[in-house]
Amino acid sequence: MPRIRQHVNPLKSDLLDIADVPRVAAPPGQALEVELGAAEAHFLIDRARADAATAFVGVEIRRELVEAVNGACAAAGPANVRSVFANMSVDMGRLFADGSVRRFFLNFPDPWFKSRQHKRRVIGPGLMTEIGRALAPGGELFVQTDIFALALDAMAALEGDDGFSSVAGAWTFLRENPYDAKSRRERQCESEDARIWRLLYRKR
Ligand SMILES: C[S@@+](CC[C@H](N)C(=O)[O-])C[C@H]1O[C@@H](n2cnc3c(N)ncnc32)[C@H](O)[C@@H]1O
Repeated sequence: MPRIRQHVNPLKSDLLDIADVPRVAAPPGQALEVELGAAEAHFLIDRARADAATAFVGVEIRRELVEAVNGACAAAGPANVRSVFANMSVDMGRLFADGSVRRFFLNFPDPWFKSRQHKRRVIGPGLMTEIGRALAPGGELFVQTDIFALALDAMAALEGDDGFSSVAGAWTFLRENPYDAKSRRERQCESEDARIWRLLYRKR
């Protein structure tokens, strides 16, 4: 197993200009679901096992993890999961055509606790605008985090965007994860009894 860094700074210059970011599209006739910051893609693998007719793509900024997910899925499946190396903070326009994605999942984005590091956080109006552009009409964005400040940032950005409406009602968190899939961090939080904040918004 290669050494995999715990965190990378998405504002590092080489990650602001990744040369080989692919255009992502589902095979003809299939829908596309995307996890942003997918890491080991456990959440997508759960989803894919329950739904062989959808294409699942993880976007991840640690190349070693992308290669590990793609190697494992090529060897043992599921065949409808893959990961791509890209920086969601700057590459959404290159990755996704307008209206091409049925669902985005943003599971436990990096917190970057120190105030001088807050600028590295991915959640904000810019990412939400790009997600809204890439979603199909009626498409969904699911966000979950154990950091209340991040959940509030996501909610404020989405409530401030006329293109989205909250499935649970305005300014309201969702009680449960409705997708029958869990990310690695989600399992860890549940095992520690940590509170998880969940949001589900739909493109109008
Ligand atoms: C805390 S981990 C959560 C991983 C997984 N979603 C989970 O819930 O277990 C956050 C992930 O997002 C990735 N990430 C952070 N910033 C990113 C960016 N700008 N673009 C793509 N991936 C990013 C990190 O490398 C890491 O794998």
